[in-house]
Amino acid sequence: MVIETNITKMFGIKHPIFSAPMGPFYTRELALAVSEAGGLGVLSNVNLLNTDPTKEHLESMKYMVEHTDKPFGLNILTSRNNRGVKDMVRKVPKLIMSDPKIKEQCRYILTSAGSSRFLPESKYFQELRKVSEIKHFHVAPAVWLADKCVASKVDGIVCTGTEGGGHQSFEKVTTLVLLQQLNEKYPDLPKIACGGFATGEGLAAALSLGAGAIAMGSRFIASKQSEFHEKYKALIPPGVPQDTALYWGAFGPIRLWKNKYALEHPAPGSKEEMVEHEKNITMDDMLKDLGAYQKVYEGDTENGAVLLGQSIGIIDSIKDVSDIIENIIKNAEATIRKNSALLK
Ligand SMILES: Cc1cc2nc3c(=O)[nH]c(=O)nc-3n(C[C@H](O)[C@H](O)[C@H](O)COP(=O)(O)O)c2cc1C
Repeated sequence: MVIETNITKMFGIKHPIFSAPMGPFYTRELALAVSEAGGLGVLSNVNLLNTDPTKEHLESMKYMVEHTDKPFGLNILTSRNNRGVKDMVRKVPKLIMSDPKIKEQCRYILTSAGSSRFLPESKYFQELRKVSEIKHFHVAPAVWLADKCVASKVDGIVCTGTEGGGHQSFEKVTTLVLLQQLNEKYPDLPKIACGGFATGEGLAAALSLGAGAIAMGSRFIASKQSEFHEKYKALIPPGVPQDTALYWGAFGPIRLWKNKYALEHPAPGSKEEMVEHEKNITMDDMLKDLGAYQKVYEGDTENGAVLLGQSIGIIDSIKDVSDIIENIIKNAEATIRKNSALLK
């Protein structure tokens, strides 16, 4: 038995499970494992020190098509502060078009942490839309931001609530409430639920709330295939939701594991405060911040930025991606059956 939804049909995938993008880190092996296991693997906007994000996307896409025939996607952070963003928005669609295999398999571009208009305005993306089955989704952490996505004519939205790991917004709406709000306002808009998912019961709940799939970050970090440092992964099974909180990140608030680095970056009080602060961010500051990501990538989980979500409280082991997906589907099916048996 499979769980067929508007999203599995849209992307031609077996299971309604996506990996969430987790830049600035590499998620190439992870994306490959997720796509191979029947979900949709998403390549992150890699922005570690000494990397060229457009080149990284090209290398990652080539890697994907060399190792799988399954569909996959990629993320572009459209924040003005994101290094190389203009280049990515112009060149990535062009690169996808120039390789027939990539054009066939790269089916999903997720933009986030910036404007939802940026990508649709790119003339190469407009061309790509005409010659491929590419779909554009944008992350919407609140209803008014989903309104903007709809105005940008996205194909769908990723509804990410405040319990999610890493990149966050000032809205602080939980996934539970956000999904219900968006389901009410945009019942036909394809939606992927994100933030706080790691179990089959969670997937069943997301489907009940109008989503056609879930995307998971923290759950997949704690997998054998993810490229994260073993020390990073090891924090997850014993972790509880309260080990994470919102702090100050380069592109807005981020949910971090509470360590020395996090405590030195208190959460911004308001959006206005953040905007004011961002105006004064220099290239030096950006590089210093990237250094904190580099540190954690190399295993320094005390002085680096450890991005994790509250979902660590429901993850108890580091497993194979295929086992994670199989288990979630099995439990989601059991939950859906159990719930339908409530009807008398
Ligand atoms: C290590 C890490 C890095 C992240 N980087 C990005 C990113 O580059 N772009 C983005 O849109 N979201 C990013 N996020 C957020 C995730 O895409 C997703 O919203 C989040 O992981 C969902 O919550 P979960 O961890 O409970 O599954 C990141 C999250 C983590 C944990």
